[in-house]
Amino acid sequence: MIPPLLVWHLTFLAVKCNPDPLVLCLLAKLGTGFDCASKGEIETILNLGVEPSRIIYAQPCKAKSFIRYAAEQGVKQMTFDNSDELYKINRFFPDAELLLRILTDDSSSLCRLSDKFGASMGTTKELLNLAKALDLNVVGVSFHVGSGASDPQSFAKAVQDSRMVFDEAAESGYDMKVLDVGGGFSGDLFEAMADVLSKALDEYFPPSVCIIGEPGRFYVSSAFTLACNIIARREIIDPATHEPRYMLYLNDGVYGNFASLIYDHQVALPRILSKSNQSIVCTRYSLWGPSCDGIDRITESCVLQGRLNVGDWLYFEEMGAYTSCCATKFNGFNDNHDVLYVSSDRGAAELLLKEHIEIQMENGLKNASIFPSTVVTSSSTMICHEDGAGSYGMAANRQLADTEPLMARIFVESLFAQQALHRN
Ligand SMILES: Cc1ncc(COP(=O)(O)O)c(C=O)c1O
Repeated sequence: MIPPLLVWHLTFLAVKCNPDPLVLCLLAKLGTGFDCASKGEIETILNLGVEPSRIIYAQPCKAKSFIRYAAEQGVKQMTFDNSDELYKINRFFPDAELLLRILTDDSSSLCRLSDKFGASMGTTKELLNLAKALDLNVVGVSFHVGSGASDPQSFAKAVQDSRMVFDEAAESGYDMKVLDVGGGFSGDLFEAMADVLSKALDEYFPPSVCIIGEPGRFYVSSAFTLACNIIARREIIDPATHEPRYMLYLNDGVYGNFASLIYDHQVALPRILSKSNQSIVCTRYSLWGPSCDGIDRITESCVLQGRLNVGDWLYFEEMGAYTSCCATKFNGFNDNHDVLYVSSDRGAAELLLKEHIEIQMENGLKNASIFPSTVVTSSSTMICHEDGAGSYGMAANRQLADTEPLMARIFVESLFAQQALHRN
């Protein structure tokens, strides 16, 4: 559970990234905080029994009714980045604990946020003076270097800017105590980012300042694997080589769990989960979703070992972030997901087993099961059934525990074998 380098005093999972009920439940049980961006997300987290003090409403431009709701529920921590928001908060929640979200250079990130949010450095002093005149309680600064950030140095610049805002706040009569370093962390770059961030924090902030983070994909990306069924196939003969290549149509696409290809600019890497033909000849494929739309393409070109056919299965790792939560019902397809949870992390499995029946009933999850196993190392699998309905599985991700996706795969294969036995 402890990140390789401890950069946060407190983390708030960005709920938007993956609001899977058992992900939320596990993290709630483990004491994580939650970054919510809407009334609905706040409701979901409060319903898990999480205290309002473990929620930050990290959306700088909120609806009036949502601010009122946060006030009623005692969710005090929230961000702002403009004067209109300050007037609104003054009217509906004058006791809120405010963090001033500042603009960052997010040019190296996959999903830029600074086009939409963040006070520029030239405007922060004025905003702090206005907050003071309104007698509002500004407790800190927040930033986000962009989701899927790739330049660790963007954290250093943002920390430096935050220091300037802390100093401006002191001039306005505030003694700020919180720095929210946002999200943007990824598994691959986490250590490099943590290193740059830790050094900058040491340089610019005393240990008395509480450092919080809002990681999203860092927590959940590797926690989910997606399994898809091939529902149709088209053979194309290459005119030059006379070799066949195939267009494969899967039961899931960019309007479903592959929404991350569009919204999160991800690339899907297919692997073979099960196949009926035992040939191992390298074959070129393009992969397509089930909808009628031409944009619904998963992979333009890939080579897989074997002649895949209708009924075979593929799987895709790292499918936990911005995937099922962005799925639509376009073209009459279902955005429901059954969930297969796999966990051999004893502590996590025990926590989940206690809760899952209740959660399953509340969320109407069908076939959601947790399989504690001494064989399967904590991992997760999301399965899409032939009828287009998907199913998801998870346990703990690489950051939470040692993950071995292959073990989850073996587990899923044995599950298919059991299902086949049932049918016969
Ligand atoms: C305010 C805020 N915090 C945290 C996150 C999570 O970011 P990531 O998934 O890159 O860690 C987001 C994502 O958009 C966000 O908008």
